[in-house]
Amino acid sequence: MSTVTITPLHASLGAEVSGIDLSRPLDADMREALSHALAEHLALVFHGQSLTPAQYLQAATVFGPPMRQHYSQHNMPDYPDIGLVWHRNGQRPAERWHTDHTNRERPPAATILYGVAIPSAGGGTSVANMRAAYAALPEAERTRLDTLRTVNSLDDTHTDTRTEDMEKYGQPVMHPMVRTHPVHGSRAVYFHVTKTVNIEGMSPQDSRAYLNDLLERMIKPEIVYHHAWRKGDVLVIDDRATMHRAHGDYDRSQSRVLWRIIVEGDRPRLV
Ligand SMILES: [Fe+2]
Repeated sequence: MSTVTITPLHASLGAEVSGIDLSRPLDADMREALSHALAEHLALVFHGQSLTPAQYLQAATVFGPPMRQHYSQHNMPDYPDIGLVWHRNGQRPAERWHTDHTNRERPPAATILYGVAIPSAGGGTSVANMRAAYAALPEAERTRLDTLRTVNSLDDTHTDTRTEDMEKYGQPVMHPMVRTHPVHGSRAVYFHVTKTVNIEGMSPQDSRAYLNDLLERMIKPEIVYHHAWRKGDVLVIDDRATMHRAHGDYDRSQSRVLWRIIVEGDRPRLV
């Protein structure tokens, strides 16, 4: 058996895990170690994986039970807990900073991406440490953010959302703008700019302007890990303390296909 090593990839977040074949079952100790490594490093990278959809779903359970994604037109027909991230089926790369599925009462603990087809240049994924972003804010703004809550729904920018998904997942859900990590106990800024209808007590316009201003001030290169994809990479992102974005800077005549799984998390709360 090969030795498992965890090597940080960036000063703020991200670590490479080597020596693990995710197509094979992992014992309870290893599952626990990886789950804790995610809470500590906030993004984990496994290179050189070769997974069937069933093996990928099984591997994802290390981080929690897979949960259904709400744009059902992009889910794999035979494996509906895997969503296809692929521009050729009409999706635009999610280039704005966000965390996933905040329109759910219990949003995902983690988003897992598996690189199936990767363009020759560009098309990376960036992940920002929102724990560090919170810590870097002036004290008065941290105190203010601690009191704010967002009202979340499905993005108003998507035009191809199915009626049944809108009915199931489009109901307003409130979340604190700062959440305490259930494993780590630290606080992180938490919102999805285009899933936020408004901040409680603020107009939608003022809310959007404030969230954009916050992103502009908070997300600096020193808190961002940029993942340049290789085919066979698995990238696990801790959605409880990070935001992420895709980069659309690749040749659209080439394929960029990622298989996405999200896994169940806790209801966000500030304690
Ligand atoms: Fe996302």
